[in-house]
Amino acid sequence: MTHGQSNPDTATAARKKLFIKTYGCQMNVYDSDRLAALLAQHGYATVPEAADADLVVLNTCHIREKAAEKVYSELGRLRALRDERRAATGRPMSLVVAGCVAQAEGPAMLERAPFVDIVVGPQTYHRLPELLARRAREDGGRIDTDFPIESKFDLLPQGTGETPISAFLTVQEGCDKFCTFCVVPYTRGAESSRPAAAIVAEARRLVEGGARELTLLGQNVNAYHGDGPDGRSWSLARLLHELAGIDRLERLRYTTSHPRDMTADLIEAHGTLPQLMPFLHLPVQSGSDRVLQAMNRGYGRDDYFRLVDALRTARPDIALSSDFITGFPGETEEDFEATVDLVERVGFAQAFSFKYSPRPGTPGAAMPKQVREAVRGERLARLQALLDAQATAFNETTLGRTLPVLFERPGRHPGQLVGRSPYLQAVHVTAPDELLGRLAEVTITDCHRHSLAGRLEPQAPAIASLRTAAQPEEIVA
Ligand code: 5AD
Ligand code: SF4
Repeated sequence: MTHGQSNPDTATAARKKLFIKTYGCQMNVYDSDRLAALLAQHGYATVPEAADADLVVLNTCHIREKAAEKVYSELGRLRALRDERRAATGRPMSLVVAGCVAQAEGPAMLERAPFVDIVVGPQTYHRLPELLARRAREDGGRIDTDFPIESKFDLLPQGTGETPISAFLTVQEGCDKFCTFCVVPYTRGAESSRPAAAIVAEARRLVEGGARELTLLGQNVNAYHGDGPDGRSWSLARLLHELAGIDRLERLRYTTSHPRDMTADLIEAHGTLPQLMPFLHLPVQSGSDRVLQAMNRGYGRDDYFRLVDALRTARPDIALSSDFITGFPGETEEDFEATVDLVERVGFAQAFSFKYSPRPGTPGAAMPKQVREAVRGERLARLQALLDAQATAFNETTLGRTLPVLFERPGRHPGQLVGRSPYLQAVHVTAPDELLGRLAEVTITDCHRHSLAGRLEPQAPAIASLRTAAQPEEIVA
């Protein structure tokens, strides 16, 4: 995904030009946006093509497979582009590698790609302007992969450009769980939660700017425990209750959750907060107790079943999504079948599945009984066939139903808008532009592989008249 929106206020010819390419998770998308806002304060306007840029930032992801290799090959391409540009225009181009690959590679990156100007980890983006200035003066280090005391959130400005109708808000970062396959605890560092007041203030600003849906982000979002304005530690459920009180904020979501942190108050929030959407990404990774233990996940398959039951009791229409890994070291055919059985028993609306990729420095990479690549791949294909069939079946259950859709953007055809169902499905509808940023009832008429189509229902009377109608009863009560 590229961050190529130019901000009309800042995109003047005299300004320096910035291109950011973002890989990986939504947290990186959020970070890139804030980094662009910071660099805008330092005179950079965002451009859509790397070839036009004075500064190119790769915001990288290290979670799976040959991530570093992909970054090195992209850097090779950028180096050629930079040389061509210098030959043609005489203008230089600075290259910055940011994010989790930068964190993991550190000095090795400058050894292998000495033409890179700066390597900056995910916790020190806010220092990039200073690093660039020092690089220009040739008086300082080119690597910053610290885990500093100061918080980048306090030092990075809000995002650039228009607020999307569905916006992300990072509430928590890092991870202390140390699943044995995962690099996150090493690249993003220890778990930390932002203070609740800062999150609420940012949420209000986003809603003021036009957001109607917020997705709270965190590597372990439901482990959130931020300082509350009342001097207590707030849980994610407490935070969601507070955010639900913001006027005009129609929808709340959060991702990614860990089954271990699915506390009773959070499950209950799914039953009591109408703004909280009935769709939850709750990665299980495997259905085998032995594998879950080797992964250090801290729960067994029965714990997961119990959680799903509790969620469905609290919110009967909740739909679930998950992540799976096939071929973790030691996984036997029997273990894999336990995963298939779990999938069949739970029924997922959507899922992401990956074959195990040994990440350097993680305990999993050093475990005996690594599973052969071919077996990992073959199990992945079997699992994906099942998960795809479940996703299709889930989409088909929405056919003929009338669902609230939040319209987020114009469609490809004139007169068409695209919105999202409560279950995050894209829904294409013929609808007037005034409905952008609003919720409307839509009856689902068609079901495609990656989206739905629907027909707009006559809209309920405006909220104001509903309130008037409700008043007498309120007085009686
Ligand atoms: N190999 C394969 N998949 C992985 N994931 C994380 N690390 C690895 C790895 N080493 C997957 C997990 C996680 C998702 C974000 O990526 O399923 O939930
Ligand atoms: Fe990685 Fe496990 Fe932490 Fe998720 S909980 S970020 S998979 S270590």
